[in-house]
Amino acid sequence: MFVTGEAGVGKTSLLRRFCAEQHDAPRLVWGACDPLFTPRPLGPLVDVAEATGGELLHVVDEGAKPQAVAAALIRELAVRGPTVLVLEDLQWADEATLDVIALLGRKIETVPALAVLTYRDDELDRRHPLRIVLGGFARARALRRVDLTPLSRDALARLAEPRGIDADELYRRTGGNPFFATEVLAAGDAEVPATVREAVLARAASLSPQAEALLEAVAVAPPHVPLWLLEALTEDDLDGDRLPKKLQPHRRKLFGLTIDPVRLQQIRTERKPGSRYATLEQCKKEVALAEEMFRIERLPALSTTHTSIEEIASKVLAQFGIQKHMF
Ligand SMILES: Nc1ncnc2c1ncn2[C@@H]1O[C@H](COP(=O)(O)OP(=O)(O)O)[C@@H](O)[C@H]1O
Ligand SMILES: [Mg+2]
Repeated sequence: MFVTGEAGVGKTSLLRRFCAEQHDAPRLVWGACDPLFTPRPLGPLVDVAEATGGELLHVVDEGAKPQAVAAALIRELAVRGPTVLVLEDLQWADEATLDVIALLGRKIETVPALAVLTYRDDELDRRHPLRIVLGGFARARALRRVDLTPLSRDALARLAEPRGIDADELYRRTGGNPFFATEVLAAGDAEVPATVREAVLARAASLSPQAEALLEAVAVAPPHVPLWLLEALTEDDLDGDRLPKKLQPHRRKLFGLTIDPVRLQQIRTERKPGSRYATLEQCKKEVALAEEMFRIERLPALSTTHTSIEEIASKVLAQFGIQKHMF
């Protein structure tokens, strides 16, 4: 069985509950991969072997080849009573572990065991070696897949109610991700807690520069940004001092916002201390390019450094002659 879903969606929680509810007492063995730069060889299988002991522990301790480890694992599963074997977070598996799992996949139907493999499907690119391994399981007749999705608005409402927190706001902030939601609820105030900030930044740290630029554009745009706008915001020609091509047809609706580079540096330092992105030099360069573009393209513009969001809104409305309706 595969259990998939983004980080924090509840894979581990679901499996803990599932294992706790097994009353006819199969043997439960659990192994997990860790997010290491140099994954420990056979990492999750070391956990499993420590639980089973016997021949499997012996071959793993010896650092045997994947074939020998897989054979020992299959024998271990064959001779003992029914087993639930959970292997978690395979997006971080080392190559030896992946080979063992591939070999197990071919024999899983011959042993009295349920193998539950979890991974973050949104973190596997097309060439991730785990994909090949999973492909091997696809032939197993008994294969099941559980793709976990974030919590619904109703589920969030049930979590938020005892704390008197607005469920719609919680949904807007967390998208229903249970990890984000429970951390925000535990913090008990409107601020995004440090735990969530750390978790998000840790994931952003491994992105390519292009993916990071896209993430930054999405982060400042409202939910459901139209694709053409994202393309315009992330195209390389944003580096130039002319308006990106995709924005040109909309130029009569554009309004430039700029900021004092020192203030921008403060904001970026809070977000990503010590990064190139947060250096004063980088901030000055980007602000100068943007201001040059506003000037050349004759866009109306405004500095946001000492301006409240209400003042910005009313100046933009006045510029375009839009009527303000008060409800
Ligand atoms: N169904 C749920 N209802 C409420 N909270 C949940 C639920 N599933 C997970 N959580 C919370 O979210 C956190 C992250 O879940 P976890 O199972 O560790 O996610 P994953 O293993 O997918 O990364 C858990 O600590 C738990 O508090
Ligand atoms: Mg987990």
